Amino acid sequence: MARTCPFQPPARYAELRAATPVAAARVWDGSRTWLITRHEHMRALLADSRVRIDPARLPRLSPADGAAEATRSLLTLDAPDHGTLRRVFIPEFTVRRVRAMRPGVERIVDGLLDRFDTLERPADLVAELALPMSTLVICELLGVPYEDHAFFQSRSERATRLMGDDESVTALLELRDYLDRLITAKAEAGTPGGGVIGTLTQGLRSGELTHADVLDNAVLLLAAGHETSAAMTALSVLTLLQHPDAWRELTENPALLPDAVEELLRHLTVADGLRRSAAEDIELDGHTIRAGDGLVFLLASGNRDEKVFPSPDVFDIHRPAGRHVAFGYGPHQCLGQNLARLELEVTLGAVLRRLPGLRLATDVDALRVKEDSAIFGLHELPVTW
Ligand code: HEM
Repeated sequence: MARTCPFQPPARYAELRAATPVAAARVWDGSRTWLITRHEHMRALLADSRVRIDPARLPRLSPADGAAEATRSLLTLDAPDHGTLRRVFIPEFTVRRVRAMRPGVERIVDGLLDRFDTLERPADLVAELALPMSTLVICELLGVPYEDHAFFQSRSERATRLMGDDESVTALLELRDYLDRLITAKAEAGTPGGGVIGTLTQGLRSGELTHADVLDNAVLLLAAGHETSAAMTALSVLTLLQHPDAWRELTENPALLPDAVEELLRHLTVADGLRRSAAEDIELDGHTIRAGDGLVFLLASGNRDEKVFPSPDVFDIHRPAGRHVAFGYGPHQCLGQNLARLELEVTLGAVLRRLPGLRLATDVDALRVKEDSAIFGLHELPVTW
């Protein structure tokens, strides 16, 4: 079910939600996978210990869906190993720790917006703001030294923009290689310096983590935090441009930004289609999900569930949107959510303040959306100001 509109999930989601919210489907290899479209079912199953993320058992939705990867990252482990590893990371992502990152994020966003004076117009907001903002924040988070930022940025941009082709695979391998060397250097220096990698290398000394654990999860942080935040940033700017009343209100009263960000996360839901499998038989809504069956959670449908969000297709920065599932739910709920909220608040706040005359430099219908990507987003967002 491709998503072709920047603002709306596929129309089929609403039909499924109404008629068969727990829908059995056969995938290409003949195996059974259930599509879950209601908010309450998502929250129940994603928090259920009988529902597993083990990559060897995940439903493969097409032959191109790779076989199980030999990594040990948070997104490949179930309890109890997942909890043990996640506890190592939690202190790096608390509200307090993320609040301390605010000046750094503001500096990054201001630096990028300073360059807007010199850019030719129209400019692409994805390439000039959304992508570099999220890469530079990850550099700060991981503790990538300043002199390597340009390398890191160019490879992340290539890996995201060219998704799937040879150049993007090379860029990803180069980034993995770079992080591998950075971990060794920080571990050997003994004085690891700032950043999550520095902190985690201390776990190497105590034997709590292996080098591969640190590497797999540093790569995960980059993969999970880069394209998601960039996609949300560009789509959020576009959504506010399409809702001039919300733009005006937020400019006059930036204190409304945190609630607006929750509504943007709900409305746009860039990460969709989480995959799991059932380890035991599960009864749900009159159906028996058998052990071994696949499960696909259509988060963008859960976030449009009329039982939880009245008039769900309306974008309304005043609605209580906090129960959205844009960050998933249960043990794997997004570890970087506080940081993602900070990035969006800071970036959108700065755009409203510094680019008050921003406007779209093309027709909305002409915007190219990423139809097949795991993360929904825009290829580019031409703007002028
Ligand atoms: C708006 C931006 C973001 C969105 C919409 C988003 C969404 C999600 C979702 C839906 C999941 C759950 C995946 C699953 O259960 O299968 C997840 C997990 C995760 N996210 Fe995010 N994410 C965002 C930003 C970030 C950032 C900035 C970081 C860190 C730099 C991050 C790190 C992670 C990690 C490490 C996990 C795996 C957690 C675990 O398995 O325990 N995310 N994210």
